[in-house]
Amino acid sequence: MLGRLVVISFLLFSLAIEVQLEKLEEPECGFFDEVQMVAPEAIPSEHQWVVRIVVVDKGALDNTCLGVLVSKRTVLAPAHCFVKFNRDAKAFSVHLGVHNKSAPVGVPFCFSNGYCVRPAQEIRLSEVAVHPEFDPKTLQNNLAVLTLQQDAKLGQNVMPICMPPPQLANETLVGQTFVVAGLSYWKDLKQKTWVTTHSRSFCQSRNNKLLTGSNTLCGYHTRAEGFYYGAPLVGMQVKGHVTQNYYLVGFQIDIKWDNKRMLASFLAIRNYLDFIHKNSDSLIVRP
Ligand SMILES: *[C@@H]1O[C@H](CO)[C@@H](O)[C@H](O)[C@H]1NC(C)=O
Ligand SMILES: *[C@@H]1O[C@H](CO)[C@@H](O)[C@H](O)[C@H]1NC(C)=O
Repeated sequence: MLGRLVVISFLLFSLAIEVQLEKLEEPECGFFDEVQMVAPEAIPSEHQWVVRIVVVDKGALDNTCLGVLVSKRTVLAPAHCFVKFNRDAKAFSVHLGVHNKSAPVGVPFCFSNGYCVRPAQEIRLSEVAVHPEFDPKTLQNNLAVLTLQQDAKLGQNVMPICMPPPQLANETLVGQTFVVAGLSYWKDLKQKTWVTTHSRSFCQSRNNKLLTGSNTLCGYHTRAEGFYYGAPLVGMQVKGHVTQNYYLVGFQIDIKWDNKRMLASFLAIRNYLDFIHKNSDSLIVRP
């Protein structure tokens, strides 16, 4: 009898392990870990959806635009980074999992204490879909959907962000706290900061050169950081009383100073879901 009980509980135990393993192997997005929020700098295994866009223009490389990975094959990015007035796209490839912007891609980057991050990946683009109403003069609808030639290898330093949950479709984007992360002009390593949002008219009254529009949101950085265009802005998705993941709110399209504070403008992704769905394979939305 005892023997049987042991066998049964062993079976239950291994079943539980299997269930857990299965869960871990589910396609993941928007990994959130509360512990990571205390450090001011981003660590390699957070905000892993930040992507660097590689543009080739007359043989020269320009790597100062970012995008955001939304599935294994799809990246969203500001169109003005690589679309010329004749609508030709100059984007060539993307770099995934970059933690140090000055370190070479394809080899592990190691910190001075010996801790190493998986190599960043380079993947060529197969398609660039520019929003049909993108206006290169006013930069309205500044959005392109990039399709990769092969699947991104997901892991510790590469993961898609979740798309906005439908139940938040009509929530206000004013008076919220989000997080922006990415590579920056001033530092080698990936950075992050909080953003507190304001109304468009308020932001414009603080700096009338800030690029805004009916499909944008804006706010102040908690820590002034010179992120490259395209740095993704994410919100925290709460289930019950628990934060379960990050989801995509937008990406940076402009930054300006307001005295010593940094004011940033973001394209609001939720206004473009139809266009994004039409041009991508399998987006991930968490219930
Ligand atoms: C980033 O990588 C470059 C090139 O390998 C290196 O010189 C630099 O020290 C690294 N930066 C940091 C902060 O580790
Ligand atoms: C958001 O608003 C639209 C238009 O009023 C409505 O059709 C939709 O059901 C609303 N969605 C949610 C989740 O409240």
